[in-house]
Amino acid sequence: MSLTYNFSGKVALVTGSSSGIGAATAILFAKSGANVVVTGRNATKVSEVAKQCLNVSQKGLKTLEVVADVTRNEDLVRLVDTTVQTFGKIDILVNNAGIAIPVGIGDKNYVNIYRQNLQTNLDSVVFLTHICHIVIWSVGLAWITFSCAINGAGYCHQNIY
Ligand SMILES: NC(=O)c1ccc[n+]([C@@H]2O[C@H](COP(=O)([O-])OP(=O)(O)OC[C@H]3O[C@@H](n4cnc5c(N)ncnc54)[C@H](OP(=O)(O)O)[C@@H]3O)[C@@H](O)[C@H]2O)c1
Repeated sequence: MSLTYNFSGKVALVTGSSSGIGAATAILFAKSGANVVVTGRNATKVSEVAKQCLNVSQKGLKTLEVVADVTRNEDLVRLVDTTVQTFGKIDILVNNAGIAIPVGIGDKNYVNIYRQNLQTNLDSVVFLTHICHIVIWSVGLAWITFSCAINGAGYCHQNIY
């Protein structure tokens, strides 16, 4: 079965698109005609996925590569600024970047890991969606968030959020 989408003229920013579900999403957007922003902390992986996006883009659209850490607000501001400077807008924001660090309630690093999880999986989503709306408030923005399933914080060796 093959599904066909048409995102010609649209700009799609997918966080955590240097691997996994985010990479697959970015490649599918590129295949469907969108201008795509590939981003993550790992520059090599970001470039590899950007090349794959270019390869599947029927119009040969060049992908924007932005190396950024979603837990750093200044990186997120730069991500949005660079996207708007390059493409003039953002139509689709996919909040996909996320981590899942299994940890037990008795672990000495439990609280630090809890904070790291929340900064990556929740705070970044709120801040990035907020600044996208500020920058492009006059243009319609569709946003999608892939979140981790909420696991019980009290369980042993499970992801906290
Ligand atoms: N796979 C599952 O079964 C599953 C289940 C439930 C929820 N989810 C959620 O779905 C999303 C994608 O899952 P996945 O399996 O594709 O994960 P993955 O393969 O581990 O990919 C995670 C992506 O997030 C990026 N990332 C992580 N921390 C980051 C940070 N601080 N700053 C910027 N980018 C960061 C990584 O890029 P860099 O390493 O380059 O930074 C990577 O591209 C995640 O939010 C995950 O929690 C997945």
